[in-house]
Amino acid sequence: MADVKQTSTWLSLLSHRRLVGGLVLRELFDKDPHRFRRFSLEQEGILFDYSKNLITEDTVRLLLDLAREAGLEDWRARLFSGEPVNHTERRAALHMALRAPDQDWKAQGESVSEQVRTILARMERFAEEVRSGAYRGCGGESISDVVHIGIGGSDLGPRLVLEALASFADGPQVHFVSNVDGVELERALAHCDPRRTLFTIVSKSFGTLETLSNAEAARAWFLDSGAGEAEIGRHFIAITANTERAVKFGIDAEQILPMWDWVGGRYSVWSAVGLPIALACGMENFRRLLAGAAAMDAHFRDAPLETNMPVLLAMLGLWHIDFMGIGAHAVVPYTERLATLPHYLQQLEMESNGKSVDRDGNSVSYPTAPVIWGQTGTVGQHAFFQALHQGPQPVPVDFIGVASPTTRFDDHHDKLMANLFAQAEALMRGQSADEARALMARQGLKAGEIERLLPFRVFPGNRPSNVLLLDRLTPERLGALIALYEHKVFCQSVIWRLNAFDQWGVELGKQLADSLLPALREGDGLDQRDSSTRGLVEHYRAWRSQS
Ligand code: F6P
Repeated sequence: MADVKQTSTWLSLLSHRRLVGGLVLRELFDKDPHRFRRFSLEQEGILFDYSKNLITEDTVRLLLDLAREAGLEDWRARLFSGEPVNHTERRAALHMALRAPDQDWKAQGESVSEQVRTILARMERFAEEVRSGAYRGCGGESISDVVHIGIGGSDLGPRLVLEALASFADGPQVHFVSNVDGVELERALAHCDPRRTLFTIVSKSFGTLETLSNAEAARAWFLDSGAGEAEIGRHFIAITANTERAVKFGIDAEQILPMWDWVGGRYSVWSAVGLPIALACGMENFRRLLAGAAAMDAHFRDAPLETNMPVLLAMLGLWHIDFMGIGAHAVVPYTERLATLPHYLQQLEMESNGKSVDRDGNSVSYPTAPVIWGQTGTVGQHAFFQALHQGPQPVPVDFIGVASPTTRFDDHHDKLMANLFAQAEALMRGQSADEARALMARQGLKAGEIERLLPFRVFPGNRPSNVLLLDRLTPERLGALIALYEHKVFCQSVIWRLNAFDQWGVELGKQLADSLLPALREGDGLDQRDSSTRGLVEHYRAWRSQS
């Protein structure tokens, strides 16, 4: 296939970018009172305002031409039809089947909906038993705590959802343990009574160092409490695609829920991986989450590109990365309930599209996934916003807010949201020299002082941002929001000609860590290493032996 950078639309976008480079956002708003209406849309209770990007109607038209030329509509159909779009692993990527189990879905020709419904029913029964107190721990009491052990896609989804839906939680308390740093496990176990604790061990491969180390330590902690091996079955559940390894680990076969190879780890919160959500919030709320995501799926599948929220979000991202030359993207949720969202999106976007080899194995000649980072507002405002406003490199921001308060401190909410809207406005408008002078004069500064401070008080503005405003933070809205980003990532992968569903780039570090462990413990094979690695390990061994 021809290099996407040589296509006429890509070249048109490059010359269009030069034109747009001379535009000033605040002037575009002044000239066009309908700019907001022109560049915003609403879907599933999510208002997407993209009017504060340096774009015109021509920009959007050209970007959508690019999407069409890349075959986005065809790829979208292939995704939904369960074709093996993850070609390196010969797998479909059919996470959408998990959220609309009543429809007939096929992964590579094989029906999957029946098994999805069966597992949902199993989750429902189990969650109901635990939540009602009918399910008893080995001491004969009900389950009070769930320790969820998993990492990456086996952790971030349920972690994000339970943080977001905390006000819907009325079941056992869920603690998350992902890192192989023992601190997390120690912290979680400090809250738990072994006789009333359920462990959900989640690993698609059941071969991940972090998860297995934590699971083994959790089992030892459980047995140390005086519980017998026979009681492990009641307290340990596995969610995995590798039943054999889970059984070998000591988990009863009846206590294992499946993960399927047509669902990628970072797309798996909708599967049995979401069990802790059902345990904490009830199955009805879990189904509401699925329904919200399914509604966004239907929109993505059926809406024309011009009014398709994931497509527009994707193409604007691509505009910044490939045409404006910006390699970073900030995600700033204005609710502590979505504090995990930047981390979740880091994995979703950077593990999916952080690649430089296309589907045919050729090196790509354009930048792909940007660095995704962020923090909640207003906290981030007092940390990195200085650089967003006055740093030399503009960074596009996704501001995410919720119109209904998510806490009982109602009065805080308007202040919080005023900050969100103000930050987006400030990035767009900036502050000219005249405005800065007038402001300082109003503040009573003398003329000499005004001129001395002037360079520091000017804001360039013209900095792009999106606002995603949710009417409420419900399971449906959250499901739709996550699905929106999933499809954004898929759309970008199509233009970049990447496989968004594999992650070979995480393997090398894992292999080296495995081979370094004996070096750390026994000094084995150190002479084979480079001088830096050898020097570090030798220091580590020396200092560790003194501790
Ligand atoms: O980081 C690599 C990765 O394979 C992720 O894609 C995945 O979400 C995570 O590790 C955990 O993998 P597993 O579920 O197999 O333990």
